[in-house]
Order: sequence, then C-alpha cells, then structure tokens
Amino acid sequence: MTAIAAKLSPPITSMIRLDHTHAVATFHQYSLYKSRETRQALVKTLCLALEIHAQLEEEIFYPAMRNVEQGEPVLEKSVPEHNEMRRLIDKLRASSPDAADYDETVMQLMRDVLHHVADEETVLLPEAERLLGKERLCELGAQMTKRRLQLVAPNTWEIVKNTARGFSESPMVMVGLAFAAGCLVKRMATR
Ligand SMILES: [Fe+2]
Ligand SMILES: [Fe+2]
Repeated sequence: MTAIAAKLSPPITSMIRLDHTHAVATFHQYSLYKSRETRQALVKTLCLALEIHAQLEEEIFYPAMRNVEQGEPVLEKSVPEHNEMRRLIDKLRASSPDAADYDETVMQLMRDVLHHVADEETVLLPEAERLLGKERLCELGAQMTKRRLQLVAPNTWEIVKNTARGFSESPMVMVGLAFAAGCLVKRMATR
C-alpha cells in the first residue's frame, strides 16, 4: 500500500461506523409482513455484511487496539460476541423464513448486534481515536479497504441480487420507481 493511499483513506473508525449504519439500515427494512423472499434476501444481505465486518475487525482493527491497550473489557469480549453472532448466522442460513423461529432468531441476532455496536461506538472507537492518532487510523482504513475488496469480490453477484430483492419494498425504492414511471408516462404523453 502506498503512503498516498494511506493518507487519502478515511480513518478506520469512520469505516466501522459506516458498516454499522449499513447493518442497522438493512435490519430496519425487515418487517414481519414482508414476503418470505424479501425477508430472506434482507437476512442474506445482513449476514454477509456482518460476517465480512467481523472478519475485518478481527484481522485489522482489534490487533491494532491490542497493541496500544491490553485488557480493555469491551475488546476482550468482542471476539466471543462475534462468535455468538456467527452461530446465529449459521442457524439462519440453515433455516428458512417458513420456520417458526426464523423471525425470532433475526431479532435475537440484531439484539446482540445492536448491543455490540453500542459498546464499540461508545468505548472502542473513541479510544482508538484517542490512542492511535489520525495518520495511523487512515493507514488502517486503507488496509481495511484493500482487504474488504478481497472478501467482497467472490460474493459480488450474491450481494447485488440480495440487495435488489431485499430493498425492493423500501419506501425510497418505491419513490424512485414511482418517479421513473411518472417520467415514462410524461414522455409517452408528449410524443
Ligand atoms: Fe465487532
Ligand atoms: Fe463493529
């Protein structure tokens, strides 16, 4: 990685917050009245995003924090919490939206994730910004981007497919579709 790339990169703490926002936004699309296909696509999107995020933190962010701060309780419980999250992800992948406990497992996963995210955002990320400094945070951000591309590449088609399906019922997509339909009708009417 070049020194320029490291300087241009956003800090790793901003990237982590953005990943959290994306996971929560995906979860907010999940409603029990949505079709089984939409709920399953949202869960697939969520599970893959959480898996990649956890791996990036374990490979890049947590080791950098351990170098400057040993024994931080939130850091100590982070990997066991990721492992519990992986257990629930495996359970969801082996299940289907028709299963009686599918929705409850999604809620359990997100309860755990929201708690974990709150700990990271109110303890670990501010500590990282205090202890590591902007330059190091940007260097780690560049490492994270490079590794993310490697992890996302084999899943690109899966991500596109599930995002299109999962967000197809979201209000923003509906507004977009209504706008596109309106433009089309207007064009046809003025021909
Ligand atoms: Fe984490
Ligand atoms: Fe995180």
